[in-house]
Amino acid sequence: METQQKLIRLTVVQEGERTVIETHAHAYRNLMVLLNNHCYLENFGECGGMGRCATCVVQTQHPALQEHNRNEASTLAKLPPVEPGTRLSCQIHINNLLDGAEIRIPGEALY
Ligand code: FES
Repeated sequence: METQQKLIRLTVVQEGERTVIETHAHAYRNLMVLLNNHCYLENFGECGGMGRCATCVVQTQHPALQEHNRNEASTLAKLPPVEPGTRLSCQIHINNLLDGAEIRIPGEALY
């Protein structure tokens, strides 16, 4: 019997445009890779997901996505003060916590 994976829907806001993206858990290595695949961003995720370059910054107010992982806090601390809800997208896994999230890609680089 086939097991059906739960659909994960997130909304990406970029330059005032809202795009709904549907995916499944673990379909991408992390949110940075998903955004690069769907949004064709330039210079986004330059360190390849090591959590060091801060070129993959996104903002979200989704309560399940506020906890920083591993080196994320120290990398974000190197930026000018950032809004609450600022995350490194490479440190966000593609799982059910993302379902219903709104992910904003800042208009200007923060680094
Ligand atoms: S890809 Fe470099 S910090 Fe996320």
